[in-house]
Amino acid sequence: MPIVSHEVYPLFVEPYFRANVAGTITPKQIAFIKNLKMVNNMENLISENLYIFEEPELRSIKDAVQDVLDIYAREVMCIPQKLYVTQSWSLTCNSQVGMHGHSHSNSVLSGSLYYCELPSPTASMIFTRHLSYQQIDLAPDASKRNVYNTPINRIIPKQDDIILFSSRLTHLVEQNASSVPRHSIAFNSFVKGRLGNYRDVSELVL
Ligand SMILES: [Fe+2]
Repeated sequence: MPIVSHEVYPLFVEPYFRANVAGTITPKQIAFIKNLKMVNNMENLISENLYIFEEPELRSIKDAVQDVLDIYAREVMCIPQKLYVTQSWSLTCNSQVGMHGHSHSNSVLSGSLYYCELPSPTASMIFTRHLSYQQIDLAPDASKRNVYNTPINRIIPKQDDIILFSSRLTHLVEQNASSVPRHSIAFNSFVKGRLGNYRDVSELVL
Protein backbone atom coordinates (compact mmCIF):
# COMPACT_ATOMS: atom_id res chain seq x y z
CA MET A 1 0.00 0.00 0.00
CA PRO A 2 1.55 3.34 -0.97
CA ILE A 3 2.09 5.95 1.71
CA VAL A 4 0.07 8.89 0.47
CA SER A 5 1.59 11.35 2.93
CA HIS A 6 3.39 11.58 6.23
CA GLU A 7 4.08 14.40 8.62
CA VAL A 8 5.55 14.92 12.09
CA TYR A 9 4.12 17.45 14.57
CA PRO A 10 5.42 18.76 17.87
CA LEU A 11 3.37 17.69 20.89
CA PHE A 12 5.35 19.52 23.58
CA VAL A 13 8.40 21.71 23.21
CA GLU A 14 11.06 22.45 25.83
CA PRO A 15 12.02 26.13 25.74
CA TYR A 16 15.03 27.98 26.93
CA PHE A 17 14.99 31.77 27.19
CA ARG A 18 17.71 34.32 26.52
CA ALA A 19 17.61 37.97 27.56
CA ASN A 20 20.42 40.50 27.46
CA VAL A 21 20.99 43.12 30.16
CA ALA A 22 23.91 45.05 28.66
CA GLY A 23 24.46 48.31 30.54
CA THR A 24 22.98 47.02 33.82
CA ILE A 25 26.08 45.65 35.52
CA THR A 26 28.71 48.15 36.65
CA PRO A 27 32.50 47.57 36.79
CA LYS A 28 32.21 47.95 40.58
CA GLN A 29 29.65 45.14 40.72
CA ILE A 30 31.82 42.93 38.50
CA ALA A 31 34.73 43.49 40.88
CA PHE A 32 32.48 42.78 43.90
CA ILE A 33 31.36 39.43 42.43
CA LYS A 34 34.88 38.42 41.39
CA ASN A 35 36.07 39.16 44.93
CA LEU A 36 33.51 36.86 46.61
CA LYS A 37 35.11 34.03 48.56
CA MET A 38 35.06 30.87 46.42
CA VAL A 39 35.16 27.23 47.55
CA ASN A 40 35.63 23.92 45.71
CA ASN A 41 32.61 22.48 43.88
CA MET A 42 33.89 19.11 42.57
CA GLU A 43 35.62 20.51 39.48
CA ASN A 44 34.92 24.21 39.42
CA LEU A 45 34.60 26.90 42.11
CA ILE A 46 31.39 28.16 43.75
CA SER A 47 30.88 31.16 46.01
CA GLU A 48 30.67 30.44 49.72
CA ASN A 49 27.72 32.86 49.81
CA LEU A 50 24.75 31.13 48.15
CA TYR A 51 22.43 34.14 48.41
CA ILE A 52 24.57 36.70 46.62
CA PHE A 53 21.57 38.66 45.26
CA GLU A 54 20.79 39.60 48.88
CA GLU A 55 23.97 41.67 48.98
CA PRO A 56 23.04 45.38 48.76
CA GLU A 57 25.80 45.93 46.19
CA LEU A 58 23.98 43.60 43.75
CA ARG A 59 20.49 45.00 44.21
CA SER A 60 20.22 46.40 40.67
CA ILE A 61 21.25 43.02 39.20
CA LYS A 62 18.64 41.26 41.33
CA ASP A 63 16.04 43.72 40.03
CA ALA A 64 17.05 43.06 36.40
CA VAL A 65 16.77 39.29 36.95
CA GLN A 66 13.34 39.83 38.50
CA ASP A 67 12.26 41.78 35.39
CA VAL A 68 13.36 38.86 33.21
CA LEU A 69 11.51 36.34 35.40
CA ASP A 70 8.41 38.53 35.16
CA ILE A 71 8.61 38.47 31.35
CA TYR A 72 9.01 34.69 31.37
CA ALA A 73 6.06 34.13 33.70
CA ARG A 74 3.86 36.51 31.72
CA GLU A 75 4.88 35.76 28.12
CA VAL A 76 6.21 32.19 28.09
CA MET A 77 4.43 30.39 30.95
CA CYS A 78 1.43 32.75 30.79
CA ILE A 79 0.70 32.27 34.50
CA PRO A 80 -0.76 34.80 36.94
CA GLN A 81 1.63 33.78 39.72
CA LYS A 82 5.02 35.40 40.27
CA LEU A 83 8.46 33.83 39.96
CA TYR A 84 11.11 34.98 42.42
CA VAL A 85 14.78 34.15 42.97
CA THR A 86 15.55 31.79 45.84
CA GLN A 87 19.28 30.97 46.01
CA SER A 88 21.90 32.75 43.87
CA TRP A 89 25.61 32.08 43.62
CA SER A 90 28.68 32.72 41.49
CA LEU A 91 30.72 30.12 39.62
CA THR A 92 34.22 30.08 38.16
CA CYS A 93 35.56 27.52 35.72
CA ASN A 94 39.30 27.99 35.52
CA SER A 95 41.30 26.96 32.45
CA GLN A 96 40.71 23.30 31.49
CA VAL A 97 37.84 23.01 33.98
CA GLY A 98 34.14 22.46 33.23
CA MET A 99 31.13 21.59 35.34
CA HIS A 100 29.60 18.15 35.81
CA GLY A 101 26.06 17.34 34.64
CA HIS A 102 23.36 18.21 37.18
CA SER A 103 19.83 19.56 37.61
CA HIS A 104 18.37 21.86 40.27
CA SER A 105 16.02 20.58 42.99
CA ASN A 106 13.26 22.62 44.67
CA SER A 107 13.26 25.18 41.90
CA VAL A 108 10.91 25.93 39.00
CA LEU A 109 13.23 27.79 36.67
CA SER A 110 16.97 28.12 36.95
CA GLY A 111 19.13 30.69 35.29
CA SER A 112 22.63 31.79 34.44
CA LEU A 113 23.90 35.32 34.16
CA TYR A 114 27.16 36.02 32.35
CA TYR A 115 28.07 39.16 34.23
CA CYS A 116 31.51 39.88 32.73
CA GLU A 117 33.56 39.26 29.63
CA LEU A 118 33.62 35.60 28.60
CA PRO A 119 36.77 33.84 27.46
CA SER A 120 37.27 32.87 23.83
CA PRO A 121 36.50 30.20 22.85
CA THR A 122 33.51 30.34 25.19
CA ALA A 123 32.71 27.01 26.84
CA SER A 124 29.13 26.07 25.96
CA MET A 125 26.33 25.11 28.27
CA ILE A 126 25.05 21.71 27.19
CA PHE A 127 21.55 20.40 27.88
CA THR A 128 20.80 16.69 27.63
CA ARG A 129 17.45 15.28 26.58
CA HIS A 130 17.50 12.29 28.90
CA LEU A 131 17.34 12.87 32.62
CA SER A 132 18.78 9.49 33.58
CA TYR A 133 20.83 6.52 32.36
CA GLN A 134 19.76 5.14 28.98
CA GLN A 135 20.21 1.40 28.64
CA ILE A 136 19.45 1.54 24.93
CA ASP A 137 21.17 4.35 23.10
CA LEU A 138 19.18 5.12 19.94
CA ALA A 139 21.36 7.96 18.71
CA PRO A 140 20.27 9.71 15.50
CA ASP A 141 22.56 10.07 12.52
CA ALA A 142 24.73 13.11 13.40
CA SER A 143 23.81 14.94 10.20
CA LYS A 144 20.08 14.43 10.80
CA ARG A 145 19.71 15.76 14.33
CA ASN A 146 16.64 17.89 14.92
CA VAL A 147 14.40 18.96 17.81
CA TYR A 148 12.62 15.59 17.73
CA ASN A 149 15.68 13.40 18.11
CA THR A 150 18.78 15.30 19.25
CA PRO A 151 20.23 13.92 22.49
CA ILE A 152 21.89 17.24 23.40
CA ASN A 153 21.63 20.93 22.69
CA ARG A 154 24.47 23.39 23.00
CA ILE A 155 24.09 27.02 24.05
CA ILE A 156 26.92 29.51 23.66
CA PRO A 157 26.44 32.37 26.15
CA LYS A 158 27.33 35.98 25.48
CA GLN A 159 28.30 38.67 27.95
CA ASP A 160 25.27 40.13 29.81
CA ASP A 161 23.02 37.24 28.77
CA ILE A 162 20.51 35.81 31.21
CA ILE A 163 19.61 32.26 30.23
CA LEU A 164 16.50 30.69 31.80
CA PHE A 165 15.61 27.00 31.63
CA SER A 166 13.50 24.44 33.45
CA SER A 167 15.27 23.39 36.66
CA ARG A 168 14.63 19.70 35.97
CA LEU A 169 16.81 19.73 32.82
CA THR A 170 20.20 18.08 33.11
CA HIS A 171 22.95 20.45 32.02
CA LEU A 172 26.71 20.79 32.16
CA VAL A 173 29.42 23.24 31.19
CA GLU A 174 32.07 22.24 28.68
CA GLN A 175 35.70 22.36 29.69
CA ASN A 176 37.08 25.89 29.49
CA ALA A 177 39.58 25.57 26.63
CA SER A 178 40.88 29.13 27.08
CA SER A 179 43.67 30.24 29.38
CA VAL A 180 41.50 32.60 31.46
CA PRO A 181 38.67 31.89 33.94
CA ARG A 182 35.02 31.65 32.82
CA HIS A 183 32.78 33.49 35.30
CA SER A 184 29.02 33.30 35.72
CA ILE A 185 26.20 33.66 38.23
CA ALA A 186 23.53 31.01 38.69
CA PHE A 187 20.19 31.18 40.46
CA ASN A 188 17.07 29.21 41.26
CA SER A 189 13.50 30.42 41.46
CA PHE A 190 10.16 29.44 42.86
CA VAL A 191 6.61 30.59 42.43
CA LYS A 192 4.40 32.62 44.76
CA GLY A 193 0.75 33.52 44.63
CA ARG A 194 -2.44 31.49 44.60
CA LEU A 195 -2.58 28.08 42.88
CA GLY A 196 -5.57 25.83 42.35
CA ASN A 197 -9.16 26.44 43.33
CA TYR A 198 -10.82 27.02 46.73
CA ARG A 199 -14.04 25.01 46.00
CA ASP A 200 -12.06 22.16 44.43
CA VAL A 201 -9.99 21.98 47.61
CA SER A 202 -6.89 22.26 45.43
CA GLU A 203 -6.04 25.76 46.64
CA LEU A 204 -2.49 26.50 47.67
CA VAL A 205 -1.43 29.97 48.73
CA LEU A 206 2.32 30.45 48.55
FE1 LIG B 1 23.17 24.40 36.99
